[in-house]
Amino acid sequence: MELAEKLIRKSTLTKKEFAELLGQYEDEYLRKRLADEALRIRKEIYGADVFIRGLIEFTNICKNDCYYCGIRKSNPNIKRYRLTKEEILSCCARGYELGYRTFVLQGGEDGYFTDERLADLVSSIKREYPDCAVTLSVGERSYESYKLLREAGADRYLLRHETADAGLYGRLHPSAMSLANRKQCLYDLKSLGYQVGAGFMVGAPGQTMDHLAEDLKFLEELQPEMVGIGPFIPHHDTQFAKEPAGSVELTLFLLSVIRIMLPRVLLPATTALGTMDPYGREKGMLAGANVVMPNLSPAKNRKQYALYDNKICTGEEAAESSVLARRMETAGFRVVSARGDFPAEQRGK
Ligand code: 5AD
Repeated sequence: MELAEKLIRKSTLTKKEFAELLGQYEDEYLRKRLADEALRIRKEIYGADVFIRGLIEFTNICKNDCYYCGIRKSNPNIKRYRLTKEEILSCCARGYELGYRTFVLQGGEDGYFTDERLADLVSSIKREYPDCAVTLSVGERSYESYKLLREAGADRYLLRHETADAGLYGRLHPSAMSLANRKQCLYDLKSLGYQVGAGFMVGAPGQTMDHLAEDLKFLEELQPEMVGIGPFIPHHDTQFAKEPAGSVELTLFLLSVIRIMLPRVLLPATTALGTMDPYGREKGMLAGANVVMPNLSPAKNRKQYALYDNKICTGEEAAESSVLARRMETAGFRVVSARGDFPAEQRGK
């Protein structure tokens, strides 16, 4: 309890203290203490508002081979797809009708989407929906590429760092990928003025509390505008098929810690959390989250974007569902249509 009080007082802990605090996540009383504080902070800054992002999973083709991911290059058992520009724009049109003012273009690292094609997509969306934010989540690219996409109108970028420990990073990714490059991308994105989202999986194979403490220290250093975390969930076609999934409770605990550390951060209750627990979204909100990202992809493709097994994507998860809004209201929140930018004057605070 002492560490929790110290975190609440100082908004930070040493790495060693973070690891010790996280080791106590099974203590329900402790979780409640941190969740209450996280919720208090979130209400002070954002009130009861829940921001929504329309997620468009526009390609499941990927040149990378991340060991945990269902759409990794060397999985031969999934049907690959790539949405056309027209399909993507019609997702936006549907989303706009439904009240979405942020579109997240997420995909694998698909070579078809050159700078030119992506920039054209971004500028087309921004031209048609000037009141909307465009978020890109298309992996590692060069500084020049990020610059071009920013100039084309992209506002935000999601790139989870996955783990801030180089050793664990190496156990989760092939040697062609490196933590150093991942971090460089995040700093490049920051310097270009994107609102940047980092993040990691909770309970990834081989992950310890020390690793998670390192993740928290990295977030503190990076000062991202957004943080995406969710439990690891095994995918049957990966080498981690038999590994246990990450803990919902530890994920919720981390959401609270992150809210306390980065008070203004935009923090989604992720699809993975909703997949692991039927009330994952609500529990995430009550632990300090303030964003949900329903699926706006064409219904026919949703199952094909399978990063992990049993991903929710057709029921309440879908963007067209009004159930989500009702459930958020029941939990004491209000889904709003606003763009939900990071409060600019406070950036980095
Ligand atoms: N379980 C949970 N999350 C996963 N991701 C990829 N594979 C899995 C999995 N098996 C996450 C990664 C990636 C994000 C798009 O999805 O953290 O950055």
